[in-house]
Amino acid sequence: MSHKSAKEIRTAFLDFFRSKDHLIVPSAPVVVKDDPTLMFTNAGMNQFKDYFLGNKKAPSARIADTQKCLRVSGKHNDLEEVGVDTYHHTLFEMLGNWSFGDPENPSAGYFKEEAIAWSWELLTEVFGIDKDRMYVTVFEGDDKDGIPADSEALAFWKQWISEDRILFGNKKDNFWEMGDTGPCGPCTEIHVDCRPDSERAEVDGKTLVNADHPQVIEIWNNVFIQFNRQKDGSLVQLPAKHVDTGMGFERLVRVLQAKQSNYDTDVFSGTIKATELLTGIRYDGSDTKQAIAFRVIADHIRAVSFTIADGQLPSNTGAGYVIRRILRRAVRYYFSALNRKFPMLNELVPVIASQFEEVFPELKQQEAFVKKVILEEETNFLRTLDAGLKRMDSIIQETKDAVVSGSAAFELFDTYGFPLDLTRLVASEHGLTVDEQGFEAEMTQQKARSRAATELDMGDWVVLENGEVNFVGYHRLQTESRLLRYRKVKAKGKEQYQLVLQETPFYAESGGQVGDRGVLIFGEEAVEVTDTRKELDLIVHFTNQLPSDTHTPVVAKVDTGWRAASQVHHSVTHLLHAALRQVLGTHVAQKGSLVTPEYLRFDFSHFAKMTTEELQQVEDIVNEKIRENIPVVIKEMSKAEALELGAMALFGEKYGDVVRVVVMDKDYSVELCGGTHVGNTGEIGVFKISSESAVAAGVRRIEALAGGKAIGWYQQKEQQLEQILDQLKRPQDALKALQQLLEEHAALKKQVEQFQQEKAGQVKDVLRARFETKGNFQTLVAQVEGLDAQQAKQIAFEFRQEGMSFAMILLGEHQAKPFIAVAASDDVVADKNFHAGKAVKELAAHIKGGGGGQPFFATAGGSDAAGLPAALEAAKSWMEQL
Ligand code: SER
Repeated sequence: MSHKSAKEIRTAFLDFFRSKDHLIVPSAPVVVKDDPTLMFTNAGMNQFKDYFLGNKKAPSARIADTQKCLRVSGKHNDLEEVGVDTYHHTLFEMLGNWSFGDPENPSAGYFKEEAIAWSWELLTEVFGIDKDRMYVTVFEGDDKDGIPADSEALAFWKQWISEDRILFGNKKDNFWEMGDTGPCGPCTEIHVDCRPDSERAEVDGKTLVNADHPQVIEIWNNVFIQFNRQKDGSLVQLPAKHVDTGMGFERLVRVLQAKQSNYDTDVFSGTIKATELLTGIRYDGSDTKQAIAFRVIADHIRAVSFTIADGQLPSNTGAGYVIRRILRRAVRYYFSALNRKFPMLNELVPVIASQFEEVFPELKQQEAFVKKVILEEETNFLRTLDAGLKRMDSIIQETKDAVVSGSAAFELFDTYGFPLDLTRLVASEHGLTVDEQGFEAEMTQQKARSRAATELDMGDWVVLENGEVNFVGYHRLQTESRLLRYRKVKAKGKEQYQLVLQETPFYAESGGQVGDRGVLIFGEEAVEVTDTRKELDLIVHFTNQLPSDTHTPVVAKVDTGWRAASQVHHSVTHLLHAALRQVLGTHVAQKGSLVTPEYLRFDFSHFAKMTTEELQQVEDIVNEKIRENIPVVIKEMSKAEALELGAMALFGEKYGDVVRVVVMDKDYSVELCGGTHVGNTGEIGVFKISSESAVAAGVRRIEALAGGKAIGWYQQKEQQLEQILDQLKRPQDALKALQQLLEEHAALKKQVEQFQQEKAGQVKDVLRARFETKGNFQTLVAQVEGLDAQQAKQIAFEFRQEGMSFAMILLGEHQAKPFIAVAASDDVVADKNFHAGKAVKELAAHIKGGGGGQPFFATAGGSDAAGLPAALEAAKSWMEQL
């Protein structure tokens, strides 16, 4: 076997398939934006789904690449395994080669024979893997699906490998599916036995294939895509046959570098070394919690960094929540197993940014930003963990029977992110156990609750006609068309329909611009379109009803007001983006954008709050560009040409070879954009920023209005001003009048406070005179006018300071709310066992209130002033009993 570096191995793979006429394409972003069935790219084939389904033609019949994939949720869910073993990952690179069958040109692609022959050639001849360490599996067939055993794959393999190394596998291992629905087909897997010869002599490797043995591992899967799995579980034959292969890059490197663990290869060794330096602990590759922590961190930092670089910020929902969970799992591991109590992951970002600079440059380009986002997440979560430990302390105090209850363990998990094993650990340190069944029951309930909240029941497409969808909405807002397919969707109990037309002027939500609304007219029948979204390359119209005749030609009409207001906000977003880069610097990059007919929201990387002057400058530049009435020029060109023009491309966005470029003065704003725009900037009218705020570490948000909406904003402000002027009785100089009013108000307030103080002094003198002597101390029970509880307290404290021996109960009413204050000097408290807190609690019942306090002073507020006379009587008798 060769001992190449990871980088050389990746290059060798791509070169090999280039030599077999494959087009090499870049990895798609790891975050999926236009496929409702997927959150993250989980296989190399995702970005090609449309080619398999026949919705779109591939740019080449043969393609190869290395794809960033993330498997933590959905069908391929590995999160809890990761780091515990040595060969599962959250984010991994999948090397893949594809053939997209074309019924009209069958010789352009290939199928089982070539795929099998080439995988053998690459592994044994280019990479030099020992043939006697390899096993392959083929599909045994499935009665329920009505598919026979894959005798073709068997026959082709027999040309290369001895028959006793070919094993039959079941549907779970040898029939690959992307998800519950979608393209699928039988597959053949290649496994390598990496055990030392002595072990191989003892146990036949064949018996360990697909048996979760850490040294006998699958490295490559060749799928022969032939079917589409429908919602009802049935399989439909696709128009053509395709090849989809996926080889785990990290595993391949491990085999070729002859290591026992993926983490011992140079894919991970840099991160592990850096973690050793940061923690002062050595990684020993064992199964201890400490060693697992190293692996968890080395794995998770890649997933988190690349996903953030692809535009997904950690958050509380959806894809953002998955990232947050991965990040938190890594923090918990260093917190509890590596004894690191302050942020660390962010320090690893530069290590991987440099390591992957050549193949995935997007991380290096955003290194400072990604580091900052991770640092903030870590800091916040460490704070939560700390609060959780405190909560754990009180739970331990409250725990009887030495068992921490399931609901307490669940609270720690849900509110503080404590996984069960951490709770178990802390509990055991205090000699307690955890009611794990109770915890699981709470978990199950919560899962059921969240499933119910998000359940989406999507029916299969009813296909009336096949064919490509044509968007005509850049130039027309109305067109005649035909319905190609439709389906029924049920979300949160509501039924909706999704319709796909052959030709449509409806813009589907993308690039931040919301989808068009409007109407589809089928003959006499009008069906309202409530939203338009993209699903891969389909343009899907959302409606609440289905036309009674789905075969009638349709006139599709976009709501022109909706579209006009949307595009005003879209064009001005470009002007804003350019102005921000001018005023704040070229580090400003778009991190999120929402363009609606009502307003726009623009998130961008910048590390400080914008000053009022900066905001003003940005607003001024944009308004100037509007007044210049610049023609908006939209051109299609190659991506290379566009970048040459200085076009701003977005991270995490997938661009084709031909891109659409929107230019508003070539020296001012050039952006790659698929959105709809005004013809000249003058149409925008006016631009107004309504707010600037923070969204996350290093990400600011501007909300703004343009056109009619901006004018509406000014009108509203004007109305408000008019109302204020009316209130002020329309003085000549309103500002001066307001200042005067405020000054007067402050002076009066001060005066009132003074009067109150004086009055309290007087009251105090009156009260002093009313004390009665009882043995060697003075007592007083009195209802007083014109005092509030605070003043009563002050008087009581002054009596205490004067050194008087006394016990006192004052009752009063302030702003219709009754109160009671009870006080005594320390000697009375000691000698008479006096407790003001207890007294006030008893008395407060009369005024429908509660309160308490210390033995020497306590107050209570109530809600029923009518109870004051009764409280007074009770106070008197309380005092008498003293
Ligand atoms: N789609 C298959 C897999 O993910 C082969 O690429 O394993």
